[in-house]
Amino acid sequence: MSVTLVSTRDELAQACATPALTAVVMTMGALHEGHAELIRAARRRVGSEGRIIVTDFVNPTQFGAGEDFDRYPRTLDADIAVCQDAGADIVFAPSVEDVYGTSDLSTLGSQVQVEPSPLGAELEGASRPGHFRGVLTVVAKLMHLTSPDLAFFGEKDYQQLALITAMVRDLRFPIEVVPVATVRESDGLAMSSRNRYLSESERTTASLIPQALLAVIAAGALGEQAAIDAGLAVLAQDSSIDLDYLVIRDLDLSTAPATGPARVLIAARVGSTRLLDNMAMELGGAS
Ligand code: PAJ
Repeated sequence: MSVTLVSTRDELAQACATPALTAVVMTMGALHEGHAELIRAARRRVGSEGRIIVTDFVNPTQFGAGEDFDRYPRTLDADIAVCQDAGADIVFAPSVEDVYGTSDLSTLGSQVQVEPSPLGAELEGASRPGHFRGVLTVVAKLMHLTSPDLAFFGEKDYQQLALITAMVRDLRFPIEVVPVATVRESDGLAMSSRNRYLSESERTTASLIPQALLAVIAAGALGEQAAIDAGLAVLAQDSSIDLDYLVIRDLDLSTAPATGPARVLIAARVGSTRLLDNMAMELGGAS
């Protein structure tokens, strides 16, 4: 079976005319192995008779002024090949007008949008005001357009996953959100569409990001502050890393527990590229 490209809502509705257990994998394109793994995870869940829709849409409303919307990589032909290899059925690559009803986004303030919970203003939201409103609004729209039973999202964007899970729960979307573990390069760097912005030397520096997380995890038994200090010591090896945050939180991203399962999250700029990562960890328990 070959993957079908559709670019309007009507074409999408036609391609989905027959009933099937449906999964959606939402992306902004520039697909890599991380996205491919989401598609493969979806195939394992829906089986050979199921339908997998990959949305490929660089959503303008989640980019702030001065961010990389204009230079964000757009690689539709290569994306279609990745979707085909990973076993997707449909690639939905709509226009801004199809998603927002207008291509003039200066009128967006008059539209209904999805307001995140207070978590939306922390961490990524603190550096990128309005980012998660844009994400939740487009995810809600794409959920309505694709009517999936299941929606697959990467743990790579852990805060996004948490906010989408909360939206689906709070607004009673009849959709199961399925998390997928982060796919990494051989040196541990989380795969990201933005890694292609890195120069060779920046790419070497970037590998300190997962190393810092591993140092935090290794020191988890010593408690929150000691664990963070261990991560900061790794980052101090290279002054060209500009740290935004390195924090430990509870699994739902509320304040870290004294002991037990937690999540360590980092955002740092290497050159002009902002990179994110996070890992599961255990806090406390040292005697
Ligand atoms: P994008 O950055 O393209 O990511 C699409 C999906 O792929 C997200 O669920 C993301 O967490 C997942 N992903 C990215 N890199 C990954 C990796 N290395 N391992 C596993 N999963 C990975 O996230 C977005 O697009 C947008 O905000 C979107 C949800 C599509 C809304 O516009």
